[in-house]
Amino acid sequence: MRLDKYLSQATGLSRKDVKRLLHAGEVRVNQQPERNAARQVTENDLIELDEQEIEAPGPIYLMLNKPLGYVCATDDPTHPTVLTLIDLPRAEQLHIAGRLDIDTTGLVLLTDDGKWSHRVTSPRHKTGKVYRVETADPIPASAIEQFQRGIRLESEPFPTKPAELQLLGEREALVVLHEGRYHQVKRMFAALGNRVTALHRERVGSILLDAELEPGEYRELTQQEIDSI
Ligand code: URA
Repeated sequence: MRLDKYLSQATGLSRKDVKRLLHAGEVRVNQQPERNAARQVTENDLIELDEQEIEAPGPIYLMLNKPLGYVCATDDPTHPTVLTLIDLPRAEQLHIAGRLDIDTTGLVLLTDDGKWSHRVTSPRHKTGKVYRVETADPIPASAIEQFQRGIRLESEPFPTKPAELQLLGEREALVVLHEGRYHQVKRMFAALGNRVTALHRERVGSILLDAELEPGEYRELTQQEIDSI
């Protein structure tokens, strides 16, 4: 990686500030002063800024409480993306481990660790996702078995994998999915003749949305949360 990028990622300083420090001779690589921002470095090099050793930038793992009206995409011509809520120098390198619809709220995981992200989303790893659902019409008790058996979604050849449905009220339930098809919860209820009016993701695997996070806020995952995936 380029030295200026490495320093910026490791310290949170802007590339512009890093360049200024480089020109001022504040940076040393393997104990030699270095002014070349484009110099290639790796985590095996000893990098010092202002005589302090700089640790290699590690991967980032975040949880975000997604608000309504934001899209889980890196770019969108009309709506704000969840990445605009992340105030970090490496925000543009994050990917979204399991997208939510624009009108779904709750837990979104973001990382620059591709393997970890794959474990969150790949159906092979069966990471359960828990959604709180509100519906337009009452949910009959018979839906529990239909969710368990699997539901044929419109224009899809295979039924959904067994999912758990727990009724919380006449029009409110918890759904646990072990796969992530496009608009899956909404389409499962639509296939039963109902309509989802509110959808909120509470949990992914054993990672629970932190109750301290207001919509739009995020925090780093703990090591235990990272290791749980
Ligand atoms: N299922 C949906 O229908 N939408 C989501 O955002 C997530 C799961």
